[in-house]
Amino acid sequence: MSAAAGDAEPVEVDPQVLNDDGSSFADFFEQRSSYTTSCSPSVTRYPLENGRRYHAFKHGSYPLPNDEREQERLNMAHHMLRKALGDRLFLAPCDKFHRVLDIGTGTGIWSIEMGDLYPQAEVLGNDLSPVQPTWVPPNVKFEVDDIESRWAFGIPFDFVFSRALSCAISDWPRLVKQAYSNLRPGGWVEFQDFDIEYYAEDGSYDQSSNTAKHTRLLLESARKAGKEPCPGPKLEGWVRDAGFKNVTHRKIKLPIGPWPKDECQKDLGNFNLTQTLEGIEAYSMRLFTSELRWEQEEVEVLCAKVRAELKHQKSANLMYDFHVVYGQKPKLIS
Ligand SMILES: C[S@@+](CC[C@H](N)C(=O)[O-])C[C@H]1O[C@@H](n2cnc3c(N)ncnc32)[C@H](O)[C@@H]1O
Repeated sequence: MSAAAGDAEPVEVDPQVLNDDGSSFADFFEQRSSYTTSCSPSVTRYPLENGRRYHAFKHGSYPLPNDEREQERLNMAHHMLRKALGDRLFLAPCDKFHRVLDIGTGTGIWSIEMGDLYPQAEVLGNDLSPVQPTWVPPNVKFEVDDIESRWAFGIPFDFVFSRALSCAISDWPRLVKQAYSNLRPGGWVEFQDFDIEYYAEDGSYDQSSNTAKHTRLLLESARKAGKEPCPGPKLEGWVRDAGFKNVTHRKIKLPIGPWPKDECQKDLGNFNLTQTLEGIEAYSMRLFTSELRWEQEEVEVLCAKVRAELKHQKSANLMYDFHVVYGQKPKLIS
């Protein structure tokens, strides 16, 4: 079964992994690479908080860090998500682009690969943090911008893309409407985002575990901060409400760990475990210290317990869902 196919079927468990002593999880976690970045001076006075580095522009509006650890995690997540989509960057049925916008581009890896794939297109990626590399294809540009402010682009786009903005956005309906207004008639939008609530299809998720406690606190603190942690399942409604037509919604299961029997799903699970182990603290440090008034050490202790559970999980066949929604701005009738 390919990773992007069979979304509705239960994921079969690999019986061999159940006998594993947990070392395969730990070994995989050790295999990480480093990444170098470049920065521009005006918006790079990055504050350091509780051992992590955060964006400077629109200080405090985004709860995840922008340091090298986080950038490595984002690149790892990119490869996982691309694989989950059957080695595709997007699923919308379009391929004639002049102008593409990647909102909240992160390390810019999606924009760079789009630029390589469509050399005739101009790809613009924007973000609060100028952490993108300078060695990019000539048709790719990056800008510092706040996508929650009013968009001020002179020329409309053919494709607006957004991925992994869980815990980032306060007003999703407004964001989706801005995407609509900034597309040419006939242009496409695609949102790819998470539902970060874990589950196990075989009932093996222990609700009294530290992992479950951490997720509950993460949802609570993100909502307290006014940032939607689980935009995935709501995307289709927002996209339809904004006026898009030909809307398609795909839900893709992302296993955490090498427990699936299917080799492709197992690979996905390994990638996902690696980026989840790193992401536990990235998601919660600022939210728990600012919204729940926890001390840095308390967050570190809970994160360590969650990582230990995830690395040595024997019986919990955890996963969560990734949602892909695309739609088209109606063409003008002549
Ligand atoms: C989890 S990362 C995802 C990055 C990228 N879309 C990807 O999938 O690899 C979310 C990114 O959104 C950016 N972001 C959050 N709020 C933003 C805002 N209001 N305006 C622009 N970028 C924002 C963050 O700085 C971060 O780089």
